[in-house]
Amino acid sequence: MKRPLVELVGTGRYTPTKVLTNADFERMVDTSDEWIVERTGIRERHISGPTETVAAMSKFAAVQVLEQAGIGPLDIDAIVMGTASPDRLLPSSACDLQALLGADNAAAFDIQAACSGFLYGLTVAEGLVTAGTARHVLVIGAERLSTITDYTDRSTCILFGDGAGATLVRAVSDGRRGILASYLKTDGRLAELLYRPGGGGCHPPDERLLADRGYFIKMAGREVFKAAVRSMADACDQALSQAGLTARDVDVLIPHQANIRIIEATAKHAGMPMDKVYVNVDRYGNTSAASIPIALDECVREGRIREGSTVLMVAFGGGFTWAAMVVRW
Ligand code: ACO
Repeated sequence: MKRPLVELVGTGRYTPTKVLTNADFERMVDTSDEWIVERTGIRERHISGPTETVAAMSKFAAVQVLEQAGIGPLDIDAIVMGTASPDRLLPSSACDLQALLGADNAAAFDIQAACSGFLYGLTVAEGLVTAGTARHVLVIGAERLSTITDYTDRSTCILFGDGAGATLVRAVSDGRRGILASYLKTDGRLAELLYRPGGGGCHPPDERLLADRGYFIKMAGREVFKAAVRSMADACDQALSQAGLTARDVDVLIPHQANIRIIEATAKHAGMPMDKVYVNVDRYGNTSAASIPIALDECVREGRIREGSTVLMVAFGGGFTWAAMVVRW
């Protein structure tokens, strides 16, 4: 097993106060609570208000992490933000967060790896710390998917929610805890199965963009579903094998929360009973890069993850990107 060089310290989360239930969607599009629960497991999702920006939600999560880590904003050397729904296209939301937090000494940048953004961010942070470039890296997953969701498209609008989660990455203080393995993978040939066709340089903002609603997320749900199951299974296998562990060694599996059927299929493939699998997709829907750090924070606060717990996190998202990480807490 790899000796951990980097550990995760502290967790935090923020979810907006406004909640959209399946009953609300019954009034908005041609759908039913029964269809949504049976096909996705989702019952409600949190939707941001005007002041609940990606940067503002991230600040709430970050402050909790700093308190637990016993450091201040000026001790942060880098901020790595996983987001697919930044507040602005330029600059990155990490820059806005840096200013809001007063993290004046931090380099700050976003990572666009869709739902895999938090695990990609943790892996980049691990590299920054092991290379000696940074001592303390704040890693955030934050999304405001409601701003890029087409609320007239019943096949996507029922899925997505908003929120933020965070942790801090630093060199290990005690060789028993930390990142044991990380695995990242991408297949860009499948980009157009889950994407936003417009808004960037290929289809810049103009009347056509407004007319074709190309600004919003488009998804070929069934194809994405199949790829998600296959890729998350691959990522679990690769990360466990890299860590020299088996499913039996894992105390908690935190899968990206997109769909209960994908989560169950991933757990089944990994050989993990559902009582070891953390599920909150019913309460938040798919919050993309925020889903794993929100779940991580809930697990730690509920005592499901304790000192010494072995945690497997696995994600899949647009790109396609997928990733897994094994951490000893
Ligand atoms: N309510 C009622 N009926 C619906 C709805 C709805 N909200 N949405 C679609 N339907 C209908 C379809 O029109 C279709 O009807 P038809 O048979 O008459 O054509 C039928 O339901 C079945 O549609 P499918 O798309 O095949 O349904 P499926 O069982 O695949 O479920 C879902 C759709 C929930 C989107 C699923 O495919 C899924 O979860 N896909 C993966 C999404 C995901 O994991 N994304 C992760 C990455 S997200 C990111 O990176 C931001």
